[in-house]
Amino acid sequence: MSRPKVFVARQIPAEGLERILAACDADVWPDRLPPSPDALREKVRDCDGLVSLLTDKVDAALLAAAPRLKVVSNFAVGFNNVDVPACTARGIAVGNTPGVLTDATADIAVTLLLAAARRLGESAADAKAGRWLTWEPLGWLGRDLGGQTLGIVGMGRIGFATAKRLHHGWGMKVLYTARAPKPDADRELGARQVDLDTLLAESDFVSVHADLNPTTKGLFNEARFAAMKPTAVFVNTSRGPLVDQVALADALRKGVIFAAGLDVTDPEPLPYDHELFQLPNCVIAPHIASATVATRDAMARLCVDNLLAGLSGKRLPNCVNP
Ligand code: DGY
Repeated sequence: MSRPKVFVARQIPAEGLERILAACDADVWPDRLPPSPDALREKVRDCDGLVSLLTDKVDAALLAAAPRLKVVSNFAVGFNNVDVPACTARGIAVGNTPGVLTDATADIAVTLLLAAARRLGESAADAKAGRWLTWEPLGWLGRDLGGQTLGIVGMGRIGFATAKRLHHGWGMKVLYTARAPKPDADRELGARQVDLDTLLAESDFVSVHADLNPTTKGLFNEARFAAMKPTAVFVNTSRGPLVDQVALADALRKGVIFAAGLDVTDPEPLPYDHELFQLPNCVIAPHIASATVATRDAMARLCVDNLLAGLSGKRLPNCVNP
């Protein structure tokens, strides 16, 4: 029996790759940068399976070029790069990697929140550039976390893990938005579900954990930043397009809010001369929330479990088709 043919759109951790190579006839994209849409179309032409990354657009044009495709295994929990309805219509299973990157992502949300609140990016850059003149009573004053109100926009797994860290570690009060009430969060953290307007008005820190979809695209616009406290710290570790970056840059420059910490931007990479990089009160990481050795290994395991299940016609362990 011939082995299934698979395209892996980037090098993934060895453990996952070895399992793919043992079971499939696999072609692995060797470069650091992703394949172009043309190259990806070419590569999937005779493939049964595809391991995609969040940088690979799996859309109708790609599917049209892949008549044999049975499974798309996305090496990420987010899957906004995949046109799931189009895959479902073709009977193609789509998998993601939930759960295993919750803690690593929550850690980065807290890191960014602290860095932005305590002006770490700005003060470290000043120190390195020779602007550390002396110990100054009024130098680089930031914001305390203790006892402040945290607003979690999107109380899913990652939102909850972030809220736990900040509630148990810093005694923060927790407000949240969610599609449905979260009794665990209410019980464990004394958290309160509110509407977005209330959350923005009452929170000292706003951390975004909502997924990207047509209802959340551009959610954080001029009006939403204006609705926050002037002392607010805004953190986004979900997806860049949830934020209108012109409005965010404006809000940071004019002091409409205090600071921001971003792990995601639109586009990615954000051009190095983008205004957000010039603003001292904006800390930007290059989408590293899941970037720990153990987390990426675990993502590879789930991703390969999904791929191999789909290739053998079984239900994917983590399937996002409805
Ligand atoms: C995901 O898995 O969706 C993350 O954004 C990658 O770190």
